[in-house]
Amino acid sequence: MPQDHIISAKHLSRADIESVLDRAAEIAADPDAVADRHAGKLLGMLFFEPSTRTKMSFSAAMKRLGGDIVDMGPVDQSSVKKGESLADTVRVVEGYADALVMRHPLEGSAKMASEFVDVPLINAGDGAGQHPTQTLLDLYTIRESAGFSDLTVGIMGDLKYGRTVHSLAHALTTFDAQQHFISPESLKLPRGVRYDLHEAGASMREHTELEEVLDSLDVLYVTRIQAERFPDEDEYRKVAGEYQIDAETLEAAKDDLVVMHPLPRVDEIAPDVDETDHARYFEQAHNGVPVRMALLDLILEGNL
Ligand code: NCD
Repeated sequence: MPQDHIISAKHLSRADIESVLDRAAEIAADPDAVADRHAGKLLGMLFFEPSTRTKMSFSAAMKRLGGDIVDMGPVDQSSVKKGESLADTVRVVEGYADALVMRHPLEGSAKMASEFVDVPLINAGDGAGQHPTQTLLDLYTIRESAGFSDLTVGIMGDLKYGRTVHSLAHALTTFDAQQHFISPESLKLPRGVRYDLHEAGASMREHTELEEVLDSLDVLYVTRIQAERFPDEDEYRKVAGEYQIDAETLEAAKDDLVVMHPLPRVDEIAPDVDETDHARYFEQAHNGVPVRMALLDLILEGNL
């Protein structure tokens, strides 16, 4: 099915996902083969929220395909400061680029913006909503390290505000993974996400303690408590520092458990985990380049 915009993992079928992952593997094996493939093409970058990995790996991906980027730059130096609406900004910028990548603090903003543009718009995170391209690189990492057959995944941390979690849970459902969601009561999956997962036939359980499921997991996906999305700082303080793992915690896990994290981490994974064979989060971040190259290639060719 041709996809104009990439807004939510809910709209990505298993076949869509597999075509991106297969293309990413081809590109990773022979990046020189695509070095000039999109020469002359421009990717518009609209980041209304901080970003390191997503923004830099999209830029690297576009440049490694022979294209280039045009960047709105920091919000406080853009016309947004003068009161321009999001709809106007995207309508202007679509005239400067062949595709747009947008991150914005408001949930639903990517969907809204996409209704005003004809070039493909990729959601790079809309508030606590979705982050579908992170999911693609997460799945690529899972496929490389654990495979999809008979897969059990634990997703731990801030399941309420974590948009990477909301996207990943949908995609894992299409791969029939068994999912365990581990969080404090106050940071459980939002009701709407849980409902959609049930509707999609997810095999899932919710827990407050990692120990209940750790030894059954093939993948443990740890997330940061999203401090910036808490309406009340006291609420954040109540849960900050909970749900940390270290090398000792992982002694109870399977030897081949894969530990992932979308990054940035704060204190939820102790540095001593980095030295273990479980750690896969830096490799996961690096996979952002071939996966985003594959996605851009398929989108710019109209093949997704
Ligand atoms: C994530 C995000 O922005 O949602 N970061 C990323 O893109 N790798 C995760 C986070 O900020 O915690």
